[in-house]
Amino acid sequence: MSYNLLKGKRGIIFGALDENSIAWKTAERVHEEGGVFVLSNAPIAMRMGTIDQLAAKTGSHIIPADATSEEDLQNLVEKSMELLGGKIDFVLHSIGMSVNVRKGKAYTDQKYDWTQKGTDVSAMSFHKVMQTLYKNDAMNEWGSIVALTYMAAQRVFPDYNDMADNKAYLESVARSFGYFFGRDHKVRVNTISQSPTATTAGQGVKGFDGFISYADKMSPLGNASALDCANYTVSLFSDLTRKVTLQNLFHDGGFSNMGVSDAVMEAFEKGQ
Ligand SMILES: NC(=O)c1ccc[n+]([C@@H]2O[C@H](COP(=O)([O-])OP(=O)(O)OC[C@H]3O[C@@H](n4cnc5c(N)ncnc54)[C@H](O)[C@@H]3O)[C@@H](O)[C@H]2O)c1
Repeated sequence: MSYNLLKGKRGIIFGALDENSIAWKTAERVHEEGGVFVLSNAPIAMRMGTIDQLAAKTGSHIIPADATSEEDLQNLVEKSMELLGGKIDFVLHSIGMSVNVRKGKAYTDQKYDWTQKGTDVSAMSFHKVMQTLYKNDAMNEWGSIVALTYMAAQRVFPDYNDMADNKAYLESVARSFGYFFGRDHKVRVNTISQSPTATTAGQGVKGFDGFISYADKMSPLGNASALDCANYTVSLFSDLTRKVTLQNLFHDGGFSNMGVSDAVMEAFEKGQ
């Protein structure tokens, strides 16, 4: 289904690695809604993933950029405006990585240069993306910037490790930069706090399979899928949500406001 919600809008979508990526589904939905965009990912992800298929399918250009490099981001923003023929209306930051998680280092046994790398990639990169857009006056009025986050920023999920702190930082950057972007350019900045989703990044978290079923059973509407997330993001890029900004928006089937559900109680009662 298409509502042409993004007709005439131009954007940059970061983080499509393979067809499971939230950014991949978002690119497909944005394309269906009439938006045009540049796809970007880290140079190494270009070789590992299948982003060229997505580019072909959506008629998009790919511009590699390490989101921690100001130089790469400057090049990306300049070239995107050239290729798309004007300023940008929407940006998706769908980037996350923790070296400690990847290498199985516990939260209580961090290797701090890995911690710092994770923070740079997962959180500070959002500031760098926005600062590059801001300094280049690259966003159109009533544009929309979205980053993806997870509820471990507010509550304890032990295996989420240092990514919890990175997400807290990311959400704070959305509010802090969102103020200046709103005041000066009428651009909105929000984070979507998404359900656990079976992607490369998601599955890297220890105990992910058990956790995704638990979240599903806790949520009255069940977990939100990557496609659901793409649809929500489309709504935030559209003109229908112009006054939504500085928000962390839970998109999780209701999980974040639950205490316990019948389905979870039942599992415990059976176990006794
Ligand atoms: N999967 C989940 O359960 C879940 C839940 C809530 C939020 N999120 C968030 O959604 C976002 C997207 O993750 P995903 O689940 O689609 O997984 P994914 O692995 O498909 O996407 C992560 C992306 O980050 C990119 N990336 C890593 N380092 C980078 C760098 N230096 N520069 C540019 N890009 C870089 C990767 O190449 C990849 O495309 C992340 O912010 C993640 O934390 C995921």
